[in-house]
Amino acid sequence: MRVAVIGTGYVGLVAGACLAETGNRVICVDIDAKRIELLKNGGMPIYEPGLKELVSRNIEKKRISFTTDTVAAVESSRIIFMAVQTPMDENGSADLNHLLEAAKTVAGGINDYKVIVNKSTVPVGMAAKVKETISAVTDHKFDVVSNPEFLKEGAAVDDFMKPDRVVIGCDSERARDIIADLYAPFVRTGHPMITMRPESAELTKYTANAFLAAKVSFINEIACLCELVGADIGEVRRGIGTDSRIGSAFLHPGMGFGGSCFPKDVQALLHTADENGLKLQIVNAAV
Ligand SMILES: NC(=O)c1ccc[n+]([C@@H]2O[C@H](COP(=O)([O-])OP(=O)(O)OC[C@H]3O[C@@H](n4cnc5c(N)ncnc54)[C@H](O)[C@@H]3O)[C@@H](O)[C@H]2O)c1
Repeated sequence: MRVAVIGTGYVGLVAGACLAETGNRVICVDIDAKRIELLKNGGMPIYEPGLKELVSRNIEKKRISFTTDTVAAVESSRIIFMAVQTPMDENGSADLNHLLEAAKTVAGGINDYKVIVNKSTVPVGMAAKVKETISAVTDHKFDVVSNPEFLKEGAAVDDFMKPDRVVIGCDSERARDIIADLYAPFVRTGHPMITMRPESAELTKYTANAFLAAKVSFINEIACLCELVGADIGEVRRGIGTDSRIGSAFLHPGMGFGGSCFPKDVQALLHTADENGLKLQIVNAAV
């Protein structure tokens, strides 16, 4: 299949390289001309185990290419992944300007039926907003799919190639079938592809990150109690982590949750709840 990836950052480059590896023709797009030049010359803007080899191999096989020309990339592709940044705004909400700007440019390249796949982490309702933005520019048929990304930095290629699950939020059967075909090689080992409505997919990503953040905060709270009562948090962690209902991941006490996604995603979730008049007490406590 012919795929364009808009935004060749962490997620876009990994997704593009992995989709090329399974035989698709992928064009990675970025507005950062220096980044595109670097990639064209065999350089890597980020380090991830296995990524450089994957990109080089697929450049050689002519399955992946790089450009700053969004319109041309969209014109020649059936599936368009949106993987631009959604940083935290001043009020804690997700800044959606990059995504909406990208959507407007993408709309200009739609010349036939396209599936627009939103991989950026976005609040509930964004698939509908992207649809509205594109519809204002084009009369061609297209569908918008919400497909949040769960990869971890440091294990990004592995996570994309062998995901625990693929979440597809979609209300069009046509688009769902196309995306299911695209992801089939990645779920061959039996991990599920879960289809749901777009709103649920959007909320799934934030819920996953908020749950993991709360898990980190929780074990830190218990670590404080351990110090007071002569218990060892490492022992308690092993004691509970072996319970399959709990699991051992994200149970290491330390500095608290951080990284490029957890703080902004947790704040964005709180903001969405706030807008809807709900106080998320557990998530608030974790923050
Ligand atoms: N980094 C992670 O571990 C991770 C994991 C899961 C989900 N996500 C989510 O994925 C999204 C992308 O994150 P990232 O870490 O890859 O961001 P990033 O900042 O590394 O990459 C974004 C890229 O998009 C480009 N861009 C911005 N506007 C553009 C436009 N109009 N046209 C073309 N390119 C444009 C930027 O120049 C940049 O290179 C975010 O929503 C993030 O929350 C990130």
